[in-house]
Amino acid sequence: MKLGCPKEIKPQEFRVGITPNAAQEAISHGHEVLIETQAGIGAGFEDAAYAAVGATIVGTAAEVFEQAEMIVKVKEPQAVERKMLREGQVLFTYLHLAPDPEQTRDLLDSGCTAIAYETVTDRQGGLPLLAPMSEVAGRLAPQVGAWTLQKANGGRGVLMGGVPGVGPARIIVIGGGVVGTHAARVAAGMGADVTVLDRSLPRLRYLDDVFGDVFKTGYSTAGLMDELLPQADMVIGAVLIPGAAAPKLVTRAQLGGMKPGAVLVDVAIDQGGCFETSRATTHSDPIYEVDGVMHYCVANMPGAVARTSTIALGNATLPFMLALADKGWKQACTDDPHLLAGLNVHAGQLTYAAVGEALGIPVCPPEQAIA
Ligand SMILES: NC(=O)c1ccc[n+]([C@@H]2O[C@H](COP(=O)([O-])OP(=O)(O)OC[C@H]3O[C@@H](n4cnc5c(N)ncnc54)[C@H](O)[C@@H]3O)[C@@H](O)[C@H]2O)c1
Repeated sequence: MKLGCPKEIKPQEFRVGITPNAAQEAISHGHEVLIETQAGIGAGFEDAAYAAVGATIVGTAAEVFEQAEMIVKVKEPQAVERKMLREGQVLFTYLHLAPDPEQTRDLLDSGCTAIAYETVTDRQGGLPLLAPMSEVAGRLAPQVGAWTLQKANGGRGVLMGGVPGVGPARIIVIGGGVVGTHAARVAAGMGADVTVLDRSLPRLRYLDDVFGDVFKTGYSTAGLMDELLPQADMVIGAVLIPGAAAPKLVTRAQLGGMKPGAVLVDVAIDQGGCFETSRATTHSDPIYEVDGVMHYCVANMPGAVARTSTIALGNATLPFMLALADKGWKQACTDDPHLLAGLNVHAGQLTYAAVGEALGIPVCPPEQAIA
């Protein structure tokens, strides 16, 4: 199969859909890989690295879309890219169609077959192509929070690990899922005093079993939040209620009881945020202050570490990309119900129930679409 990878054009997106290592694997399976020139440069992969493994470098995105049978990307296709998609072509990337009627309409009109990273599932009921980005955002959260805690950045001037004779920063992590667990590990590794709150007792048990004394756990209630917030130097918001907006777990009124210069890092901002005072920010202007409390609310945190994120995403997408290329999308989706769960659009039909529900568009069950 001819696989194509255009350069990402969404603002502030530096990741790339196919790494040189992934290109090499596909080529060793007998496929051809077309890479738009400079596609990998934001993640530190030069054209030469792709050429060295046998990929073909082409000058424009138009050539990639024209020649490739399957397009592998990171972000949802932008309007100009959607115009280049065609019937029978496979698109494998993040789509997030539910809040995006325009993109959905264009994908349906194009006749392409679109498989969304974010809805591919695994045997444990997880989302294997979202998890790597949660891991990145989770590990990044204490790092950006520690920077924000510095005096010059508006923070309280507290060092995460303290020093001998001076206590460490106190960190609350709300939500002990993928983001929260990785955030807690890194914060604890920096020497901070960390408490993870969750509403799932099985999850709290798991964290306690696996991490022991590395951090404390608590059952997330409004009462416990009232108790812990005034002592906190940093609160990391990492909750998720699948399919719903994030619940507001810290109110504006509660900020008044917090230490001046304390820091809120709202990783859940991509689901609306879990602090009442959160609003999405960007890497170029990431922090702001409300009532003396600093907020960091970047909606695409993994973009800050594009190289790590690209490789992490590539590791997760590779087996699926190879299956799609080796077998063709229909056979690959027939053989693997978890990949079939990623099918969102095929030949002018919407095949993902939740998107249909959100946008009021009739849905053809994916099993029927591949039959
Ligand atoms: N900003 C970014 O760049 C970025 C990147 C990756 C993920 N995210 C977001 O981070 C959030 C967390 O993602 P995840 O992969 O860790 O999800 P996850 O499902 O693995 O974990 C969410 C956890 O929140 C817990 N939870 C639900 N309600 C709660 C409550 N009231 N109090 C405490 N805990 C509660 C759940 O029990 C679960 O353990 C999501 O909104 C995700 O979209 C953001």
